[in-house]
Amino acid sequence: MANIPLRKGGPAARIAVLPGDGIGREVTPESVKVLRAAVNRPMEFVDLDWGADKFLREGVTLPPGAVEMLRDEFDAILFGALGDPRVPSNQHAADILLGLRFKLDLYVNARPVELLHDRLTPLRNRSERDLRLIVFRENTEGLYVGVGGFFKKGTPDEVAVQEDMNTRKGVERIIRYAFEHARWHNLKRLCMSDKSNAMTFAHDLWQRVFKEVRQEYPEIESRHLYIDTLAMEIVRDPSQFDVIVTCNLFGDIISDLGAQLAGGLGLAPSGNIHPGATSLFEPVHGSAPNIAGKGVANPLGSVLTSGMMLDFLGWKDEAALLKDSVRAALRENKVTPDLGGALKTAAVGDWLADYVAKNAK
Ligand SMILES: NC(=O)c1ccc[n+]([C@@H]2O[C@H](COP(=O)([O-])OP(=O)(O)OC[C@H]3O[C@@H](n4cnc5c(N)ncnc54)[C@H](O)[C@@H]3O)[C@@H](O)[C@H]2O)c1
Repeated sequence: MANIPLRKGGPAARIAVLPGDGIGREVTPESVKVLRAAVNRPMEFVDLDWGADKFLREGVTLPPGAVEMLRDEFDAILFGALGDPRVPSNQHAADILLGLRFKLDLYVNARPVELLHDRLTPLRNRSERDLRLIVFRENTEGLYVGVGGFFKKGTPDEVAVQEDMNTRKGVERIIRYAFEHARWHNLKRLCMSDKSNAMTFAHDLWQRVFKEVRQEYPEIESRHLYIDTLAMEIVRDPSQFDVIVTCNLFGDIISDLGAQLAGGLGLAPSGNIHPGATSLFEPVHGSAPNIAGKGVANPLGSVLTSGMMLDFLGWKDEAALLKDSVRAALRENKVTPDLGGALKTAAVGDWLADYVAKNAK
């Protein structure tokens, strides 16, 4: 198999900015502010107003031609969050976010779990050096493909079926991506996690593919853990992990567990990636209607997400600068109330922009 182009590098970048709903509209502009201050290269931002307001006004979720436009004219999408109490079905969110994930074939969900300040972890006697790993979740298959149905719905005899879809191609490409990431970043330990003792068909495929692909990466110490064991081990001793690769459902769960170990939702970044093609970067949190409009949303998750985007663009120094700025804000307590600080969202953004402007090379 050909090498995977891990980066979408180039001298310039065109970014689609999709803040969405709720606090997505508060944190995403702060990220753009920080990006503008940190990046001294041609970088164009184009705002997209897709979200609940547009849906309620015009009935439009993902406009016609949107996928092709993003694929052909943009390098990356900086996404906020979708979800609005006025749209109880969440139809717009499903159409836009899942639509982009599937139609842009963003098969890698990258979820770094990195402790950026010791005080943020609920684990006793753990420090920054103990918690620095990345989870790669398969993002286009598994139990999330929506194949299934009801039989005798609403009766006492009801049957509900949800199919777990695993293709040879899908399993191989996410496992290979995880190994390539490890190799690129000189990470020595990779863990593939499944439930092959109980899911004897789907995860037998994962087992066989893993055994095959790992042979191409002899320098990486690779092992397998059942997902229940992984959940225990990651809490007991997270320092034993560098790279974790797993299926859609388990990746969803284990990466949220990891996010909590590293300071919670307000700090967790993610990328939805198709190597070498337009990819989407979003903070893990949702639109948080309970705090939306109050100016207290924590923008650090979005800023770390922007750092992942810069890394994807191949702009390593600027990516590192963004992470440094978040570390510094945590150290100096220039943070929002959810992290024990007193600053508003925009004031954190201003502080970070100032920091990166002063420290940019
Ligand atoms: N990718 C996405 O767009 C995405 C992800 C998750 C949830 N959602 C949607 O968001 C809406 C709300 O969902 P939810 O409440 O379950 O999850 P949520 O992440 O929006 O909020 C959960 C809790 O964490 C807090 N929180 C989240 N982000 C924060 C931040 N940056 N700063 C400070 N506090 C923060 C919220 O105030 C809330 O108490 C729903 O419509 C849901 O469908 C969207």
